[in-house]
This record gives sequence, structure tokens and C-alpha cells, in this order.
Amino acid sequence: MLLQEFVPLSDSVSYHISQHSWRRGMSNFFIEKVPFSFSTSNEYAQFCIDLMRCFKQDSHPLSVLEVGSGLGLLAKKIISKYESEWPDQPIQFTLSEYSDAVTEGLKSLDFVHESPNVSCETCDITRPNFSKDYDLMLLTYIWDVLPCTILEFDNGNCYEWLVSASISDELIIQDTTSMPFKTLGAAQIKQLLNGTIPDQYLALLSRIAENIHYQWKRQPFDTSQAKYAGLLQELQKKSEKHQQSFFMNYSDSLLDSLDACIKQFQGDFVLLCHDFAHTRPLQGQSVEHTIGRFGLCQFYNIPFYLIKAFCENRGLQCITSQYKDSDNQIAIISSYTDETIVNNFKALLSKKEPGMNSYEVAQLYLNDDITTANESALTEDEKSDYYLLFCKAKHYFKREQYNDCLTCLDLLINDYGKAALSAFVLASKALRKLKFQKEALELLSQVDDTSYDAIALEKVFIYAEMADKAMMQESIESYFRKDLKSFIY
Ligand SMILES: C[S@@+](CC[C@H](N)C(=O)[O-])C[C@H]1O[C@@H](n2cnc3c(N)ncnc32)[C@H](O)[C@@H]1O
Repeated sequence: MLLQEFVPLSDSVSYHISQHSWRRGMSNFFIEKVPFSFSTSNEYAQFCIDLMRCFKQDSHPLSVLEVGSGLGLLAKKIISKYESEWPDQPIQFTLSEYSDAVTEGLKSLDFVHESPNVSCETCDITRPNFSKDYDLMLLTYIWDVLPCTILEFDNGNCYEWLVSASISDELIIQDTTSMPFKTLGAAQIKQLLNGTIPDQYLALLSRIAENIHYQWKRQPFDTSQAKYAGLLQELQKKSEKHQQSFFMNYSDSLLDSLDACIKQFQGDFVLLCHDFAHTRPLQGQSVEHTIGRFGLCQFYNIPFYLIKAFCENRGLQCITSQYKDSDNQIAIISSYTDETIVNNFKALLSKKEPGMNSYEVAQLYLNDDITTANESALTEDEKSDYYLLFCKAKHYFKREQYNDCLTCLDLLINDYGKAALSAFVLASKALRKLKFQKEALELLSQVDDTSYDAIALEKVFIYAEMADKAMMQESIESYFRKDLKSFIY
């Protein structure tokens, strides 16, 4: 059954599903295995402090805006590091999210309402409206969720890629989110996907998404009709001259938002953009190279070389990292022309890709190939990385070293609080192995995110082990009847 005719990527079912999945909150990262450990890490917070050192004047406290703060995890770490680095110059830090409802959630965070220098506001990056001037703006994996079109430059010709979606006529999905279970057939699934997906069906998205088939086709694209025609025609000429072919995501929304932000700054400014990105056109050799997929979540590869050309036209610096074989890159956009400052930016971006050291040690833990020497070379910030600590905890769990496993998970839970969903689940399993069922229940009672099935299931197992039939039944019922409430994202 056809779900959708050929349309641009940003109008597609796959884009629609991916956007809606974020309404599931933090659990979306764990359900779809979206990496988040580096962008919320102490190491990246230190990177932000190192960046501030590149341009900060001695006695001038900085005013910082973070776009798309999510759960505020990175903001909290940056503020704490800034306070130790410059204790007599309080940072002015603004966290933001793009809807009022989500911004309200940020306001309730302890570190936000306890500090007079920390504030929250709603900021839709596509329509920025700053309430004050900022020295630094942080955009971490924001651009790569904005709507875009996939373009292909092929020896001077330009094409737009369109996508269509279909499901099997026989597809049946059991809706187990309420009792009695309901059966959704192909027609009902089509209807569901074509509207605004109600909260109660968000949990089904992963299973539905696995069954959608996509087809792609290209059609000629007239670059002269595009809003940023000049930039595209430059690329088209290069592709013709060098007989090059490459794929690239083009987003009016992104370029408009960058333009609007730049116009709002009154003094010198720096934008730190960490994204899923290509730094050279030839890195995009197929449609698949332009999209990053984690389960049903999609991220659109940002052409940093296009952003660079956009900035050069406006007399701005845009310096990008060139991390080898990596889809994650960093761009520093700024109005500074001072040579020392520009060189400081370049030096910062020429260091080894941040996050790599802890990632490499995490792989050793996963492969049970670790010696103490491997880990002792890491900095304290690197050692506190979520992915590393979680891999370490899994390694100890496998070796039945449950106390060591719990030590790693305690560190994560202290650092990430309720957001450390996978750590809560593994800690409960370790406590159960040690026959501390009551303690496991107490631990899980701290988590109120009902969208992460694994937590609810853990409770079922605990009551089963305690031979408490009544509570086991209650927890099975609450697992199936769970009500998806509104979430942070
Ligand atoms: C992939 S998450 C990244 C969250 C966080 N910065 C991190 O790195 O973990 C994408 C974020 O972009 C935010 N977002 C999506 N569209 C946005 C828009 N138009 N303006 C501002 N933020 C947006 C979402 O709410 C979400 O917080």
C-alpha cells in the first residue's frame, strides 16, 4: 500500500516520524540508540570552556545562549566548570528550547532556578528573537534536525532527490499500549502516519517504522530558482569544472536561521556548531551518505563547506574541524578578525577529535580486552563519559563483578540523574543478582519516565523474584496500560 507519493525529504513520512519520536523524551535516545554521551559530557563542557578562553577578555564575564538545551545536561556542566575557572565573574547563561512547554520544563531544573545568572527562554532557531546580546551561542546537533532537500551535483547538472513510502497490504501491528490490545491494519497505519500522531501511539513508532519501504528518484533541480541561488551555482560550477559528482543536503531553513541569528548580534560573537557534517563535497557519494540513522531517528548531514561560503560572503570567519573518518564535525563561526583569536580557534580544532579517547577505551571494555594502562591515560573528564562508564559496567556485569558494575552506574546516576535511564535498568539487574530486590525497587522508583519499557519490565521481574503475585500483576498491567504523558523534547 502506497503511504506517500514521491516528495522532498522534509515532507516525507520518514522525516515526520523522526520528528515525532523526539516527543518521547530522553527515552528516545535509549530506545533508538542515538548517541548522546559526548554532546552532554564533561569533556565537551571543557571544550566549550577552552573555546571561551580563545576570545574571552580578562575581566569580562560571558553571556551564553544554548539552543536546544534538551535536558540541560551540558549547560549544567559548562556553568560548573566556568564557575571554577572564573569564580569572580558570574556567567550569564541562557538555556533554550523551541517550544514554550519544553522551556517551562527547563525552568524547573534545580541549577536553573537556584542561580540568578541562569535563565531560560523559548528560541526557535528558525525564528530567533534574542532578548539580549550574546557573546557565544551553542548549537549542538540542532541544524541536523532542520528540514532539508537532498541535492545531487553531477558533472554540472543538479538534481533533487525525492522519496516515496509504502507498506505491505498485509501489515498488522498489535497495539499493546492499552488493554485490550488493538490490531492496526495497513489502512489504519496509513491514517495514523498521515496525521499528527497521538501521544498514545508514540510507543508504536519504532515497530511501524521498521516496516516502511522507501524508494528514491531524482528530478532536475533549477539552482537559479533557489533562495540561496548564488551559493548553489558556485557549487554547480565547481562540479562542472572538476567533473565531480556529489550529494548534499540543502536547507533554506538552516541558512535563514543562521542569517537571522547573525543579524541579531550587536557586538562580536562566536557560534559553536557541533553537528553531523561533511567538511568537503566529495564526502557525500550517495543519498545514504546525507542521512544518519539511529533506529527511526534521522539526522541530516550538514555541508559545512556551504556554511563556510555563506559566512565568507558576509565577512565572517568559519573554521571547521577536519576530524578523520568522522561524521561529527565542529564549526566555529565568528565575527573576530584578530589573528591571535583566529589562530586560537584553529589550534583548538586541530586537536584530536574530542570524545575519541574515551570511545576507544570503551571499545576495549566491550571486547573484554582492557588493561589498567589503557584507562589511566584518560583525563578525569574522559573517564566520566556516559558511554565509557556504561560499557565498563556491562563488562563487570558479564564477569559477575556486580559491585564494580554498581560503582560505575552510581557515577552515572549521580551525574545524569533521572536521565540515566539505561544505568537505572542495569543497576537494577545487578542488585537483583546480589539478591537486593527491595533496593532495586527503591532505585527504580526514582525514575518517572514511563516511556522507557525496560524500567517497567524490570519491576515485573523484581516482583516475580519476590514472589509477590499481586504486585507483579499490577506492574504488568501498568506496563501495558501506560499512559504517555508530555515530555521534555
Ligand atoms: C538531537 S537533539 C540535540 C539535543 C542536545 N543539544 C544534545 O546534543 O543532546 C535536537 C534538539 O533540537 C531541538 N530543536 C529541534 N528543532 C528546533 C528548532 N527549530 N529550534 C531550536 N531547537 C530545535 C530539539 O528540541 C532537541 O533539543
